[in-house]
Amino acid sequence: MTQHRFPEGFLWGASTSAFQVEGGYDEGGKGPATTDRGPGRPGIADNKIASDHYHHWREDVDLMAELGIKVYRMGFAWSRIMPDASGDPNPEGLAFYDQLIDYLLERGIEPLVTLYHFECPSALVEAFGGWKSRKMIDFYVRYAEICFTHFKGRVKRWVTVNEQLITTSAPSNTGDTETDPRQRQKNAYQMSYHVALAEHRAIACLRQIDPDAQIGPVVAMQVVNPRTSASADVLAAMNAEEMMQNYLLDLSVRGDISPYARYYLEREGFYPVVECGDHDILVATRPDFLGVNYYFSNCAHERTEPIRFDRFPPWSGGDFELCDNPAIAPTEWMSNGIDPLGLRVGMRKLYDRYQLPMIVTENGMALSESLDEENRVHDAVRIEYLSRHLGEVEELIREGYPVFGYCVWSLMDLCSSHQGFTKRYGLLYIDRTETDAKQCARFRKDSFFWYQDVIRENGLPC
Ligand code: BG6
Repeated sequence: MTQHRFPEGFLWGASTSAFQVEGGYDEGGKGPATTDRGPGRPGIADNKIASDHYHHWREDVDLMAELGIKVYRMGFAWSRIMPDASGDPNPEGLAFYDQLIDYLLERGIEPLVTLYHFECPSALVEAFGGWKSRKMIDFYVRYAEICFTHFKGRVKRWVTVNEQLITTSAPSNTGDTETDPRQRQKNAYQMSYHVALAEHRAIACLRQIDPDAQIGPVVAMQVVNPRTSASADVLAAMNAEEMMQNYLLDLSVRGDISPYARYYLEREGFYPVVECGDHDILVATRPDFLGVNYYFSNCAHERTEPIRFDRFPPWSGGDFELCDNPAIAPTEWMSNGIDPLGLRVGMRKLYDRYQLPMIVTENGMALSESLDEENRVHDAVRIEYLSRHLGEVEELIREGYPVFGYCVWSLMDLCSSHQGFTKRYGLLYIDRTETDAKQCARFRKDSFFWYQDVIRENGLPC
């Protein structure tokens, strides 16, 4: 019996990113990428083999078809398509994605393609410093143009950038080697400003090349609860959301900067260098949709000490202090714990501010897992996590919010952004360890079969 029904045509999906699943890091003419170095810690897997999707792609699409997903939220590796600083496309890289996308379409699965998910060509960082330079904007737009032209009619939804917050503030993604914490922060704001300009120019480019296609950014949704009901904590939580989320999305969606963000950036000396004509570029286009990544909520209280810019995450410095939420217990891998209602809170706020249709592009539960004697993984905890979050999506739709799809993070176990393969999110188990990639054989977890039923029923079971 089905408890929650979803609208007809709801896009049930699953998510990965290129650098976390593909491997084949030096095959098929791919150039070195900023993310190829991995976490740089002994004993933790890097992305060189990852889930070996580069060699298992056909089997993986067959598994997606068996699962029943309607959309596969995937990424292109920028360095596979544009390996060096010449800006010329790599035919072998395009051919890899040709076969993958054609087979997805043959199996009835829509590719939702992220152009830029943390990974970018090292050649561009070496040549001119990557996103610190405005030159990177031209390279990104050229890359986008190559993709839009080549895949016209086959890819109908594009993502400009995954999680600007992490993309531009993690040195392992940008390749920025700055060591002074204040200067690194300043660089991050300059880089994200350049990314926003690049996004708007790419949107304009898509409108020319393929007016029927849609495009939007993916946000690392920040739901920041005040630690107490004191107005000073409420204001601190607002400041945190403003600088960890809204500042970036305001530029990507509306092409403007809020009064508070402008004030804060000017006060700290972080306001980006702006050139004549930028405003026109930023306001000339508007995305078609918003992709939302959500794992857990945050909590903040009033800042009483001077801001420190030398902590992790680097964006956590500001007119707020992030803290544990006393109402939510941490889990093994999620120190902020589990907060399904936070998904609804955050998506309502996003809609109120941007009025864009939304799709959940990432939502998932990290666990330490291994195969049992029967090669099974009983991940009841993940099923409960996904079920509770999907329940909130259903409530959002009932309340009238335009949510048109949901993608589980992740389709398969993959190389976590900085914690390797011990931390697993997949519906499919990848048989490898941190140090031994073995054959990367695929095994269906219990959550795979559960999600298969949800999709078949178009709703959650009781
Ligand atoms: C999102 C990213 O931030 O969170 C993914 O888009 C990432 O690339 C995911 O893997 C989970 O984070 P982590 O650090 O556990 O891999």
